[in-house]
Amino acid sequence: MTVHFIGAGPGAADLLTLRGRDLIASAPVCLYAGSLVPEAVLAHCPPGARIVNTAPMGLDAIIDEMAAAHARGQDVARLHSGDLSIWSAMGEQTRRLRTLGIPYDVTPGVPAFAAAAATLGAELTLPGLAQSLVLTRTSGRASAMPEGESLENFARTGATLAIHLSVHVLADVVARLMPHYGPDCPLAVVFRASWPEERVVRATLATVDPALGDGERTALILVGPALGAEGFEESRLYADDYDRRYRPRGTSPRFPEGG
Ligand SMILES: C[S@@+](CC[C@H](N)C(=O)[O-])C[C@H]1O[C@@H](n2cnc3c(N)ncnc32)[C@H](O)[C@@H]1O
Repeated sequence: MTVHFIGAGPGAADLLTLRGRDLIASAPVCLYAGSLVPEAVLAHCPPGARIVNTAPMGLDAIIDEMAAAHARGQDVARLHSGDLSIWSAMGEQTRRLRTLGIPYDVTPGVPAFAAAAATLGAELTLPGLAQSLVLTRTSGRASAMPEGESLENFARTGATLAIHLSVHVLADVVARLMPHYGPDCPLAVVFRASWPEERVVRATLATVDPALGDGERTALILVGPALGAEGFEESRLYADDYDRRYRPRGTSPRFPEGG
């Protein structure tokens, strides 16, 4: 018996890994985390599966479900939106499972930031403009930000920021970033990336409507000079004269053929 933690992806039912789909199809119990896991993903559950929405449950009750399945010798598919490595609350569940001696494994999923970047058709790390991507959020009622992980500190680096769980405080986000990135810095807000209701707003820090987040809250704010830029350098990787292992160049290549 194993609890399979599975990243259910950003929303579109076909943005689920084949491994995730097969594990869901083989598990007689499926626990899924609320409204961000689409019905079409749950459709992979086998007939007669026990399917439980854990959104209204506390941690104790969720672990009780897993322990009961363990006692019955039944595998559990545990679904969270996007990928499990960010804001999934997987850590507190696996810690309990380790204490109880219940085996688990983890199958990655497509995170929301990757789906949002795909919607924008954007590479978030453009040569000369940004070579780092910061996945961050602002303080919420459930989790305060650790000291040092402030928007201002990340903004000082000039990296591309993917700001989660924050569209409802967009005005504050913009005010905090403006001194570092400047008013002309491009910004995109992607609502429900990959869902049928997907919506994109492109603007700059100066022009974005601060009331954007008053309704739909499943949205990612992407900010940084790499967004929408055309005036970036080309990478050396594909430059004609760039000598590399798979394409030796010049009279004394660094990696001679076959070397
Ligand atoms: C609790 S976090 C879950 C993140 C998830 N584990 C991941 O890998 O992306 C929820 C936040 O992720 C972002 N999010 C999740 N799905 C999204 C989507 N389809 N489009 C835009 N943002 C999304 C929003 O900022 C939302 O408030």
